[in-house]
Amino acid sequence: MGDLIYLDNGATSFPKPEEVYVYMDSFYRRFGVNPGRSGYDLCMEAGAVVDETRKMLTTFFHGTDPNRLCFSYNATDALNLVIFGMLRPGDHAISSTLEHNSVLRPLYHRSREGVEVDYVPFDGAGFVDPGEIKKKFKPNTRLVVVNHASNVIGTVQPLREIGRLCREAGIPLAVDASQSAGKIAIDMEEQFLDVVAFTGHKSLFGPTGIGGLYVREGIEIRHTRAGGTGVRSVEKAHLEEYPFRLEYGTPNVVGIAGLKAGLEWLLVQGLEALHEREMKLARLLRDGLAKIPGVTLYCQEDLADHIAVLSFNVDGRDAGDVGTMLDVDHNIACRTGLHCAPRVHEQLGTDKIRGSVRFGIGPFNTEEHIRHAVEAVREIAALRKR
Ligand SMILES: Cc1ncc(COP(=O)(O)O)c(C=O)c1O
Repeated sequence: MGDLIYLDNGATSFPKPEEVYVYMDSFYRRFGVNPGRSGYDLCMEAGAVVDETRKMLTTFFHGTDPNRLCFSYNATDALNLVIFGMLRPGDHAISSTLEHNSVLRPLYHRSREGVEVDYVPFDGAGFVDPGEIKKKFKPNTRLVVVNHASNVIGTVQPLREIGRLCREAGIPLAVDASQSAGKIAIDMEEQFLDVVAFTGHKSLFGPTGIGGLYVREGIEIRHTRAGGTGVRSVEKAHLEEYPFRLEYGTPNVVGIAGLKAGLEWLLVQGLEALHEREMKLARLLRDGLAKIPGVTLYCQEDLADHIAVLSFNVDGRDAGDVGTMLDVDHNIACRTGLHCAPRVHEQLGTDKIRGSVRFGIGPFNTEEHIRHAVEAVREIAALRKR
């Protein structure tokens, strides 16, 4: 059997660009010390890489102040900081049924503490109608938190319109950009965003264990943790100024370095060029799968406003079994099940058949991979008829 065909880029991008491995190795060997804690040269060098990465990400998201770019472990960590730091009992929040558990679960925990939450469903094409979000606005609505690109069905939400309505109403909008950051443009200014939460290991091509959030000036997130910041140690309380306010303890400095290298690689390739290439493959995949009898696809025909993430099922087969056959018989890695987004499946009715099979395309996939995947699904779908 040939090499593994990796179509699980929705979970994490793999492999990483060679430049990321090389830079992480050399950075950690040369500068793997605790940044910002001391004044010796190595420490300053490590700190400079952290600062440089903050600046690059701020520019990338069209933010204005690199100090408002705070690092976290991943998007889940960043979203917890937002959901626990921006809501109080008695507040109202609005979200959507497209969300990942990194939003649903913190909101659920908050709802048990007296935060009221409304979830706006997506329409038949997989999009949340901004007008439906507006209809839920209340005088005590303190946060709208929405997914930008679905990790199950791949649809990209009309962020600018949602942002415009939230801004008009004076309600902060936080965006889960886990799937979109690095795939499509995110512009804090143009899209009226208040907080962007991102993860480093997907389409920003960094390693696991690094993510962050950008918090627009004028938006305040209470710190819900406290600890070392490396500066002003005499203060009893955790520091209020950003980025310290939302950073605690020794940062994942080698992760930040890897994220820097990933972002640099992405900028050289060009975000739009990568996206266009991935969408070409996604269309090939979609068209191939659509022709297979017994395959149900959960996407629109034209894949407009989409990232290269597609879900499907084979009639009469458990999604997990299809995934196992793809792996064992065809050497294809994909993701099956509920993809940590149970409400998407509830709405599609796929919760009753244990989710879907998901293919996530990345920059290192080829047309040959896609043809191979389509043929593999065709064989699996044909098996069921015997
Ligand atoms: C839409 C979405 N949100 C949040 C996350 C959580 O990302 P992380 O596990 O890196 O925190 C994911 C990861 O799969 C995701 O797809």
